[in-house]
Amino acid sequence: MQIRPITAAETRPLRGLVLRPGQPPESLVYPGDDAPDSFHAGAEIDGEIVGIASIFPEPMPLAPDADINPANAFRLRGMATRPDLQGSGLGSGVLLYCIEHLRDIGTPILWCNARTSAIGFYQRLGFETVGDEFDIAGIGPHYVMWTDVRQTN
Ligand SMILES: CC(C)(COP(=O)(O)OP(=O)(O)OC[C@H]1O[C@@H](n2cnc3c(N)ncnc32)[C@H](O)[C@@H]1OP(=O)(O)O)[C@@H](O)C(=O)NCCC(=O)NCCS
Repeated sequence: MQIRPITAAETRPLRGLVLRPGQPPESLVYPGDDAPDSFHAGAEIDGEIVGIASIFPEPMPLAPDADINPANAFRLRGMATRPDLQGSGLGSGVLLYCIEHLRDIGTPILWCNARTSAIGFYQRLGFETVGDEFDIAGIGPHYVMWTDVRQTN
């Protein structure tokens, strides 16, 4: 297994399989996917991308009760592991690879709209919720979660 930078195009099969099953191909293209500061990470096994995450420069919509600047932030999207490989550490590996990239470029804050069903995954990596639960049409309940990557282990 290798974790490496990948292209936006390489994320799309797994986005479709895990995050947008049955939805049209255009739903697999996120705004800013090909922008120069966007970063996509993938876990590859035997030539197949089996874990993905993407990060994009975007201010955090809610200011947590902390001494941070919510404007100096990246947003995490499209976090997925192939279903038969979930729970084997790939998701953590891919997310930590993105966090390393943010440390390298000096951006302290990473946030996401986390599916309520995935909160436990993010909490294990040091993310905290901020604000109330909200619904995203067609997907379900979410919380904004965030972490200061300078403090992630
Ligand atoms: C959420 C997801 C990306 C996690 O990836 P993964 O490869 O399964 O994660 P890992 O194997 O690295 O898990 C790390 C830890 O988090 C736990 N974990 C994984 N998914 C979890 C979840 N949904 N809720 C609570 N804990 C979870 C694992 O059990 C593991 O715990 P451990 O350290 O005690 O062993 C993956 O389960 C997935 O693709 N889920 C469906 C899509 C989804 O919900 N994406 C997130 C959208 S916000």
